[in-house]
Amino acid sequence: MRIKRGKVEVLADVVSSQIKMHSAYGGVVPQLAARAHLRNMVPVLEKAFEKAGISKKKIDYIAVTKGPGLIPALMIGVNAAKALSFALDKPLVEVNHLEGHIYANWLEKEKADLYSLKKMRFPVLCLIVSGGHTQLVLMKADMKFRIVGETVDDAVGEAFDKVAKILGLGYPGGPIVEKLAEAGDARAIAFPRPMMGSKDFNFSFSGLKTAVLYEAKGKNLDDKKYIADVAASFQAAALDVLSVKTLQAAKKYGARNIFLGGGVSANKALRKTLREKFAKELPEANVDFPPFKFTTDNALMIAIAGYYRISQGEGITDCKHLKADMNLRLI
Ligand code: KG4
Ligand code: ZN
Repeated sequence: MRIKRGKVEVLADVVSSQIKMHSAYGGVVPQLAARAHLRNMVPVLEKAFEKAGISKKKIDYIAVTKGPGLIPALMIGVNAAKALSFALDKPLVEVNHLEGHIYANWLEKEKADLYSLKKMRFPVLCLIVSGGHTQLVLMKADMKFRIVGETVDDAVGEAFDKVAKILGLGYPGGPIVEKLAEAGDARAIAFPRPMMGSKDFNFSFSGLKTAVLYEAKGKNLDDKKYIADVAASFQAAALDVLSVKTLQAAKKYGARNIFLGGGVSANKALRKTLREKFAKELPEANVDFPPFKFTTDNALMIAIAGYYRISQGEGITDCKHLKADMNLRLI
């Protein structure tokens, strides 16, 4: 990407998906992911440079995900970025994967491959909902994060994936469960709303997942109506807790911008639930979402977060010492 006067021009945006490979196993297999990263790294880079139509020497910075995530995959990415930085003598910017998901919200589409950067009104509250994380993150300024709530067990994306597995659907489960839920009755089964009444902003999804497991035990999973009802009832329970806690945290911290980040932010029902809840109970807050294209993992979000890190005078890292960190936290 190229940034000039608040405009983001996407020169190339290449995603090499491994979904087909992992779906045969019903989830991501770390060693297979690492091998595929290794295989795909150079072809993806070649394609990106070709699409962008610029020479490697013309780039100013290389932004890379340091963590969190699966260590075998992170290591391939970090090593490739270090090699590029060393060979081209270009500065390396380390980015937290979740910063990337948060900063995807700063993008306002103008036209194909051209975005402007939104003017932020802090405090910003971002609900991160991905395959590995469920967190409420408060920001009082750019690149200053405070985790005010998070899941004590499973991530909500993981719960969507597990529910799809229990119901004998494919992988990843989120989009499939969402699609099926559209035809189901969300009140058909009264699934629990874990931690709904807790005074903090933490979440729990493992009990909800287990409730779906017990509900589906011995049932006819070829019954399309039943599957749709389970999907809709599960989704409603998950979205209920997410939206109520987000609203409560927004009220407590006086948040002015409310955002969503991570793969589950592609869920249209979640977007609708949040919009409706805030319009009714906290209309002064501005609820907005990342462009659909940049909800699931992508390189642009890492580049944007890298740009903000550089703007804050941080993030430039010593190519010799950069290491992947599977448990990296936002700070
Ligand atoms: O952020 P992401 O692409 O990867 C991680 O960093 O984890 O998120 C992937 C997760 C998966 O669990 C997937 O099932 C979920 O996002 N997801 C969805 C939807 N699209 C993707 N969950 C619910 N509804 C969706 N439409
Ligand atoms: Zn992600």
